[in-house]
Amino acid sequence: MEQNTQMSTIAVLDFGSQYSHLIVRRIRELGVHAELLRPDTSAEVLAKYAGIVLSGGPQNLSESRALKADPNIYTLGLPILGVCYGLQLIAHQLGGTVRAGDKREYGPVRVALSSAGKLFKGLSKEELTWMSHGDQVTKTPKGFSVTGKSDACPIVAIENVERGIYGIQFHPEVKHTEHGMVVLQNFLNISKAKKTWNLGKNWIEAQVEGIKEKVGSSRALCALSGGVDSTVASYLVHRAIGKQLTCIYVDTGMMRQGETEQIKKTFAKLPNLDFRVVDAETEFLKALKGVSEPEKKRKVIGELFIRLFEKESKKLKGVNFLVQGTLYTDVITSGVSVGGKASVIKSHHNVGGLPKDLKFKLIEPLRDLYKDEVRLIGKDLGVPEAIVQRQPFPGPGLAVRIIGEVTKEKLDTLRSADAIFREELIASGEAKKIQQYFAVLPDIRSVGVQGDARTYGHPIILRAVTTSDFMTADWARIPHELLAKVSARITNEVAGINRVAYDITSKPPATVEWE
Ligand code: XMP
Repeated sequence: MEQNTQMSTIAVLDFGSQYSHLIVRRIRELGVHAELLRPDTSAEVLAKYAGIVLSGGPQNLSESRALKADPNIYTLGLPILGVCYGLQLIAHQLGGTVRAGDKREYGPVRVALSSAGKLFKGLSKEELTWMSHGDQVTKTPKGFSVTGKSDACPIVAIENVERGIYGIQFHPEVKHTEHGMVVLQNFLNISKAKKTWNLGKNWIEAQVEGIKEKVGSSRALCALSGGVDSTVASYLVHRAIGKQLTCIYVDTGMMRQGETEQIKKTFAKLPNLDFRVVDAETEFLKALKGVSEPEKKRKVIGELFIRLFEKESKKLKGVNFLVQGTLYTDVITSGVSVGGKASVIKSHHNVGGLPKDLKFKLIEPLRDLYKDEVRLIGKDLGVPEAIVQRQPFPGPGLAVRIIGEVTKEKLDTLRSADAIFREELIASGEAKKIQQYFAVLPDIRSVGVQGDARTYGHPIILRAVTTSDFMTADWARIPHELLAKVSARITNEVAGINRVAYDITSKPPATVEWE
């Protein structure tokens, strides 16, 4: 990145909080570019930024392994804001003390604030904030004053106005902190970072020009999944190079009702696009025959997808570029910096996850963006609303929502039940409150009675979750009347289904999907 852009960028050092990305997003919402960086990023690198935020993190400073910032960042003369662990780190590194508090503060906490500096400008003397900490600062470093306290914690905010260093125990980035955005805006004002983050037409035009130049007279290829990311990426590249772009959609037969038709319709509308559909339902069903182990299913689907995509791409001449809908969150995995290898819960298969040896150069126009930013761009590019607002959908599709072996019959049953659930949630307005919802077909049967006769059918399980990042999730509290309506419709309208259950498990301990 150019020095000039960095000068107006805020560096957020990631100490492993689940909210680190959220800090970056909030700063961007305020029109300033922000980047998430490793916690040990050197002061030399950070000197080029407009300001530094030290994120929260799960560690205790009493442990010698606890992550620290480069101590030289405090003498760069840059404004610094420490949040939660970040506050404790400032205190610890500059000569104050941090100890385990008597009481943990978790959730909403009222704090009394009084600052000589401008960090709390426009705020009341008492504010509602959101906290999550056990440790607390017990002695401020020399030259710092205490600017906030709560009932359980005498030091919830500190500042050294002269040095531009501020620390707060509460999280300004979460919505539960009533005026968190004001605090962040005040910090941006202190930092004098320029408002350069504007995702409007200019951003699109700059990308289009860049892609045109990069591709020249060559050709580019895109694997479409029908999801937001690959669709927006291909719309953008198409705007730049028109018919030099080929989009390939592999129809696995594992999509939801009406989805493949919608994708075909959407892309047929783009003029001068080489759009190819590979109808591979039969091949996928054949490959999945007898496979019931979830990881095996994912592997079979992922590998067949790649094979078909490669076969199709070999038919094309002069293609040097591959378009991928990689997002900022794919590039920078929060917490990676904290070290340690996470255990594999599920091997995600993404259309974007094509093998490296495909011998293409990559075009990843969305790699600086978050999902909600991609949605804004998609809207500006004219991507249909249904795709822009589309829920996440796993790469292996309905195969991981059918427990046990996947068959055409089961897919059709699941599709019908899923469509009813979706239709009713949308019609009732409940869908707007829920981030993901779908039906699952388990591999069990139960006895029922329909029309005075015994049935021995399958149940359908409904799953609906509220979540901000899909890392954790809660089951959605759908009104009982609505569940009753969905249940009645599914058992009446979908052959072979005689029971409907609603999944009331959060993540953890469950995951969002059943496989
Ligand atoms: P889990 O089930 O792990 O799901 O709690 C979290 C989110 O990820 C989606 N998901 C996938 N997305 N490829 C994807 O692109 C996959 O293989 C995959 N598996 C799960 C899931 O729908 C949820 O939104």
